[in-house]
Amino acid sequence: MTFQSGRHFLQIPGPTNVPDRVLRALSRPTIDHRGPEFAKLSLGVLEGLKRIFQTSGPVVIYPSSGTGAWEAALVNTLSADDKVLMFETGHFATLWRNMAVALGLEVDFVPTDWRHGVDPNIVEQKLTEDKDHRIKSVMAVHNETSTGVTSNIPLVRKAIDRANHPALLMVDTISSLASIDYRHEEWGVDVTVGCSQKGLMLPPGLGLNAVSSKALDAAKSAKLPRSFWDWEAMLAANKIGFFPYTPATNLLYGLQEAIHMLEEEGLPNVFARHDRHAAATRRAVQAWGLEVLCADPQEYSSSLTAVMMPGGCDADALLDLILKKFDMCLGIGLGKVKGKIFRIGHLGNFNDLMLAGTLSGIEMGLSLAGIPFSKGGAAAALEYLEDTPG
Ligand SMILES: Cc1ncc(COP(=O)(O)O)c(C=O)c1O
Repeated sequence: MTFQSGRHFLQIPGPTNVPDRVLRALSRPTIDHRGPEFAKLSLGVLEGLKRIFQTSGPVVIYPSSGTGAWEAALVNTLSADDKVLMFETGHFATLWRNMAVALGLEVDFVPTDWRHGVDPNIVEQKLTEDKDHRIKSVMAVHNETSTGVTSNIPLVRKAIDRANHPALLMVDTISSLASIDYRHEEWGVDVTVGCSQKGLMLPPGLGLNAVSSKALDAAKSAKLPRSFWDWEAMLAANKIGFFPYTPATNLLYGLQEAIHMLEEEGLPNVFARHDRHAAATRRAVQAWGLEVLCADPQEYSSSLTAVMMPGGCDADALLDLILKKFDMCLGIGLGKVKGKIFRIGHLGNFNDLMLAGTLSGIEMGLSLAGIPFSKGGAAAALEYLEDTPG
């Protein structure tokens, strides 16, 4: 292993770079999670998260990864053999589907080409056909981290309403929360799934559920077995700032600091920053003569950009070279697109010069790997950033 000086570039689409302010908060001494100081901390972060999810309803925090928060959404609201409607937008939608099947749910999994998001017309058609209301939930991944495609959740909500169907709406915002505009309450979402290690700029370890009153009602009759994930015990303890089991105390310190940072910047500015860096990245890809995986400009992700390799070139070999030469990690292709794409994470604690470094590393890597492309992508992105002040 050769010695690498300077800072490592962590440009995968999560976990993201943890800001120094958050790292310092994480390093505070651990306190008694049944004491008054802890209650103050947790009541503060539970309120703060409501502002991040844009909801007045409860948010549940688990000491878990995002996968745990997926499971919590399902087991709290559904019963064995319930039917759910999902879309194969990519690798993460597929994993969530696999979990639903493993839990005994019947999944209508609508295929896509992994270049598009959820089609609201299909939602409306499927729900309209479902006269006896067997479909209990529509489940969508807002930002598909494996493809860089963002589905339009307000249109999915409208489609459910047009079909006049009572299904719940559950949305995975694991790689969009605090990066791409998302409004749990205004958009009529019943359960929003999130986690700590992406837009919230924390290390992995917190799984999140924002919950509507309709979802809380569904929980009263839902029969899937649950214990660790049970909202009821959690929400009862949370009322006075406590948890039914040991919470991830130090991550909550980090969360408090991350919420301060997001609110100092202002959520609309956070979203605009992500939009601008994503647009600059696409300029670079275009100038390289390469193609973005997302096929619909309306669905371009502002958290990450997935780039298609020119015919026959291996994306994983390129990423290995970039890691060795420039100490930068980019996201590999997952599932069906393994080796065919690479993913540039531009979410979380990120700025113009970090983007400049990221794109320069990719451009040098493409050149050293002998991949057919045109130089000038990094320069095109810088020009965009100059012309489009943040
Ligand atoms: C969209 C999406 N959903 C779910 C997950 C799973 O989350 P975790 O790996 O934290 O369990 C990920 C992970 O990257 C993701 O990007």
